[in-house]
Amino acid sequence: MTSPASTPARGSSTSRRDVLTVVTITTAVAGGCALAWPFLETLTPPDDTAAHAPVDVDLTAIAPGQQITVMWRGSPVFITNRPPEALAKLKSPELVSKLRDPDSLIVQQPPYATNWHRSLKPEYSVLVGVCTHLGCIPTMIGGSGDPAVRTFLCPCHGSKFDLAGRVFKGVPAPYNLPVPPHRMLSDTMLRIGENPEGEHFDFSSIVQI
Ligand code: FES
Repeated sequence: MTSPASTPARGSSTSRRDVLTVVTITTAVAGGCALAWPFLETLTPPDDTAAHAPVDVDLTAIAPGQQITVMWRGSPVFITNRPPEALAKLKSPELVSKLRDPDSLIVQQPPYATNWHRSLKPEYSVLVGVCTHLGCIPTMIGGSGDPAVRTFLCPCHGSKFDLAGRVFKGVPAPYNLPVPPHRMLSDTMLRIGENPEGEHFDFSSIVQI
């Protein structure tokens, strides 16, 4: 079921990844509907300036344990409200021992998200939902059960990521899911696409999307 791990260079496998992305967006949307999770999609802006515009998300609309998807720069971004039991799971030695890069040593996130929860606010994860193997769109599994056991599963070759986007060992995806620049406009309003004041993270500097 799995294929060998690979590290597609930027650009060299763009066409293949684009096709996979188009195909699997359909799968991801269908999966999201089946689990009754909201899918919030921003319309593709008409010009390049708008396409790179930040996206604001009202976090009060996401219940504990719930995940929504928004579009940013043409890619899905998963935002998950992680309740205390899910946060405790992220630190559990049993889970950590199964992860390929539990401490986020590889630059797949901004410095301000290089921590055990890979985000600004522990309660909320903000992840680019593009598998680091060949670009399919993972979906959350375990939706109706204990939030602590939920993970993201890639439908293409079975790569698995925890609720911080950290990849498990023994799967084709080589890297954690990317974390986009993000900052809080207020306690409840998230902006994707901008760094917090004083931070200068360039998203193109991550190892792979
Ligand atoms: S694209 Fe191959 S496991 Fe995700």
